[in-house]
Amino acid sequence: MRIILVGYGTVGRSLTDLLKIQINKLRRTHGFYPRVVAVVDRGGAAISSEGLDLETLHRVKVEKGSVSFYPGVGVAGISALDVIREIDAEVVVETTPTNIVNGEPGMTHIKEALISGKNVVTTNKGPLALALPALMDLAEYNNVLIRFSGTVGGGTPVIDFAKECLNGEEIVSIRGVLNGTTNFILTEMEEKHVAMKQALSRAKELGYTEEDPSMDIKGIDSACKLVILANWVMGLRKKLEDVEIEGIENLTLKNVEERKRRGELIRLIGEARDEELSVKPLPLPKHDPLCVKGTLNAVTFQTKFSGEKTIVGPGAGGVETASAVIRDLIRVKAALMKR
Ligand code: HSE
Repeated sequence: MRIILVGYGTVGRSLTDLLKIQINKLRRTHGFYPRVVAVVDRGGAAISSEGLDLETLHRVKVEKGSVSFYPGVGVAGISALDVIREIDAEVVVETTPTNIVNGEPGMTHIKEALISGKNVVTTNKGPLALALPALMDLAEYNNVLIRFSGTVGGGTPVIDFAKECLNGEEIVSIRGVLNGTTNFILTEMEEKHVAMKQALSRAKELGYTEEDPSMDIKGIDSACKLVILANWVMGLRKKLEDVEIEGIENLTLKNVEERKRRGELIRLIGEARDEELSVKPLPLPKHDPLCVKGTLNAVTFQTKFSGEKTIVGPGAGGVETASAVIRDLIRVKAALMKR
């Protein structure tokens, strides 16, 4: 399967690393032969119909700052749109940073890929939080797939769990920890007694935060994920502006420690219930299933007939999110085989 990778930051690089490590297993167990035919970053692209060498790609990026320096096949200044339009591939993997104002540049990349008959796998939350129903329609019209497992829960299959494992059920509400960065920060404050600023610097160093970390802290990243979940698994048609949002930016070490003394932990909780969507820090009893630690995410789906189910797992990080991209690529491959 020929892949165009748009965006070569933390997730993009983790994806090529993981493909390299997993290649034999992917071939053996899924008959999946990924071939990365183009990678685009801010400096240009590296393009090869035979497939790029993933080791060289990573080295060039780290040493020279852009894949456009890839020996022989690097093209400086070429835009992602031109690559998407002109290069033959079955799938475009879109991993540019989230922009919640207009979804760009991811929105245009995704639309162009779908229009040009390419399947899309994305980790970019902006376009989906802003226009999920329209993008699904566009994919259907062009007879291709759009998969976005990595937009919620990092490597944890929150979306697939709800959409596929609970598909005989009616989901009444969703409640959960949807942001790894803020959960990491709250855990650091609780356990290491460090100030928020210091914990945030550490989260940034470890590659958990958004390009603009205020998206995490102010609850906007959680709100995007909540909108994606509510629309996709509950069939609602909500927008980001429909979510009542309060972040953790005003919490102090004192607030966190006081709650802890009373046997409670503060967690940034996203909730969709009765058509109302909210994100806010809430004190929870420390044995609550949503009181997860570090970058873990935890989401409880309340179902009409079979009660509550909570899925827990790592919610941020390059490799974790890249594993969701691979899951989606295998799905795309399976769908292509059926055609
Ligand atoms: N910044 C996000 C988080 C990354 O911390 O959850 C994963 O979406």
